[in-house]
Amino acid sequence: MPSVCPVVVLISGNGTNLQALIDAASTSSFNIVGVISNNPNAFGLNRATTSSIPTFVINHRDYPDRLSFDHALIDQIDQLNPDLVVLAGFMRILSTEFVNHYPNNILNIHPSLLPKYPGTDTHQRVLQAGDKEHGVSVHFVTEELDGGPIAAQAKIRVEPEDTAESLAEKVHSKEHVIYPQVVSLYASGQLRMNENKAWVGLNQLPETGIELG
Ligand code: GRF
Repeated sequence: MPSVCPVVVLISGNGTNLQALIDAASTSSFNIVGVISNNPNAFGLNRATTSSIPTFVINHRDYPDRLSFDHALIDQIDQLNPDLVVLAGFMRILSTEFVNHYPNNILNIHPSLLPKYPGTDTHQRVLQAGDKEHGVSVHFVTEELDGGPIAAQAKIRVEPEDTAESLAEKVHSKEHVIYPQVVSLYASGQLRMNENKAWVGLNQLPETGIELG
């Protein structure tokens, strides 16, 4: 692996996690070589352009089905030749073919303490369940939605006055801290996925990954 790890980031929206990664990249061992959005209006594209990072739009609406969209995505990513694909608020479910094309080399960030609350509306579901803690997970991507080995988590406390909006805000600020840390760990060769488990060096991580943040 080269000393600076080339990373492609996939987004669909605001891109605050992308911004955290851009800000960290200058002092880390990774370099964002391209940003791809399925949404032509994603504000994250402006963030990338401002930092002179090449951007690409592959609009899922231009493709008849998931597989043809994923093929277009693969073609573009492969031209950028990254060692790691980072999903940062990318709102499309990826096919098995896509996941298998980048074996063990895709990370995602999810706003819950997985394995609790895969899918959407995580903050609302935490409140409904009366949970006292909540948080964010960074995990490797496998075919199972939000189900791959967890690299790291950060926790927040749920206070009685919390709403879905306040939880979203607290979780988001944790995201911006831990995603750059996890991508840096990967880029420096320490974090890996192997045999469907997450590892740091020779140590297999616990099911909930490293606690960060
Ligand atoms: C984050 O909450 C992330 O956990 C989820 O999508 C959101 C993206 O936010 N996967 P942003 O576009 O990075 O601001």
